Amino acid sequence: MQFFLDTANVDEIRAMTATGLVDGVTTNPSLIAKSGRDLVQTIKEICTLTTGPVSAEVTASDAEGMVKEGEFLRDIADNVCVKVPLTWEGLKATHVLSGKGHPVNVTLCFSANQALLAAKAGATYISPFIGRIDDTGADGMELIGEIRTIYDNYPELDTQILAASIRNVLHVKQSALLGADVATIPANVLQALVKHPLTDKGLAAFMADWESTGQSILP
Ligand code: E4P
Repeated sequence: MQFFLDTANVDEIRAMTATGLVDGVTTNPSLIAKSGRDLVQTIKEICTLTTGPVSAEVTASDAEGMVKEGEFLRDIADNVCVKVPLTWEGLKATHVLSGKGHPVNVTLCFSANQALLAAKAGATYISPFIGRIDDTGADGMELIGEIRTIYDNYPELDTQILAASIRNVLHVKQSALLGADVATIPANVLQALVKHPLTDKGLAAFMADWESTGQSILP
């Protein structure tokens, strides 16, 4: 399973890529706004921090505009992945962009039928928004399972499932159990994945016992 970092914060990305755990980055207009920085400069910088795909989202609402913006974004760096909303116009843009060999992440997916359309349009990634579905009182994980089943039913659909809007460690585990190809994860959730109280307790005991021996490993 691949892990993408879900942020436009360059310092955060720099710190997290040092672990070797980050396979790519996803941004969206809200994350760019939160960064307070210029879109193009930010995407350019992020693309130097990872060789993996960096999703940059179009903001036009018509297919022609999305294609123009997508091609502009792709010129920023080879690893830019064009992020397109799951609208009718977005599907048309996905078809054109993917036909020209550009990777496309189709975002704002909230139903299995939408995911089926995106795959048929040529999406490289489909981004089901788990947390936002949970927010409505439904179970976001059900959608991941449904999409996995549908895509597996039709091997010619090679779109990867990118679990998005991940809010906690359980979302990551369940996405992995259900066979999502990628999870895009906020830095705080990625860091929380390593935590277990028994690890901390066990390490403290090992260190206390080690200290009592008076030894050191290095001469
Ligand atoms: C990533 O591609 C999505 O834009 C992001 O995961 C959305 O997350 P949110 O629902 O927490 O804003």
